[in-house]
Amino acid sequence: MEKYKKLNDRREVIVLKIGGRFTEEKGNLELLADEISSLEKEYRFLLIHGGGNEVSRFSELLGRKPVFRSGIRITTSEEMDTVEMILAGRVNRRIVRIFRTHGIDAVGLSGADGSIFIGESIGVVSGTATRTGNVVKVNPRLLEIMLDGGYIPVISPVSTDLKGEGLNINADSVAFHLSRVLIPETLVFISDIPGILKGDKIIAHINEKEIQREIKAGVITGGMIPKVEASGVTVRAGVGKIVIGEYKKSGDLKLLIEGNAGTVIDR
Ligand SMILES: Nc1ncnc2c1ncn2[C@@H]1O[C@H](COP(=O)(O)OP(=O)(O)OP(=O)(O)O)[C@@H](O)[C@H]1O
Ligand SMILES: [Mg+2]
Repeated sequence: MEKYKKLNDRREVIVLKIGGRFTEEKGNLELLADEISSLEKEYRFLLIHGGGNEVSRFSELLGRKPVFRSGIRITTSEEMDTVEMILAGRVNRRIVRIFRTHGIDAVGLSGADGSIFIGESIGVVSGTATRTGNVVKVNPRLLEIMLDGGYIPVISPVSTDLKGEGLNINADSVAFHLSRVLIPETLVFISDIPGILKGDKIIAHINEKEIQREIKAGVITGGMIPKVEASGVTVRAGVGKIVIGEYKKSGDLKLLIEGNAGTVIDR
């Protein structure tokens, strides 16, 4: 496959994961799009989005109660359709629409497209077969073609298993798996909190050992657990640093990329 250039652009690759609540709040995506657009001279971006909250609300509308274990949604087969509609449909489309009208050459994708990432179900949880899955294989070729072509891939965390059945994969986990293959300089998580909090203080810098300690101590809980647990493996795979923070105003993305805001996780 030598005819496809492999990321031979000199700009650093930034993998950016944006949380569900961030994508919902009016004005956020527009602001972020403008800053991404202004930073494209220096960086190439690849975006992964969550959307758990929106799925939950829709599920509740349909009379289903969302179930979580250690911050990970347990998706029943019936729920999977909703997950796909909301994440690969509504949320992904919203981001692409807004990005494209703010000068970004965005392309919406899910894991099944080009088999960017495929997974397998985590099996039976509390007696229920779940469509919540883990990533088992990453094929970066389509992403490399898009990045080399100047596009910004916008990826929803739904995919397929080997049999072609839908899977809902935690967006943080997707961001980690893609990063371990693409090895960006920086992996940034934009969430609804200014960083990993200890009491009311932001932890400016943390390494893998300290993370395990804070999980055991109950400082890091819920949705923050999948965000930090996989970070050790990811920095050991060669990713320069992982930054977790929030996006409130123009300039915040640059601060996060440079490790001057939020929590920086490295080796
Ligand atoms: N020590 C901690 N510091 C900061 N946040 C924490 C901590 N422990 C748990 N959390 C929780 O983790 C949440 C962030 O994870 P969550 O999965 O909810 O959001 P997200 O990953 O940004 O969005 P999505 O899951 O939709 O992609 C915070 O809103 C907070 O409630
Ligand atoms: Mg999450």
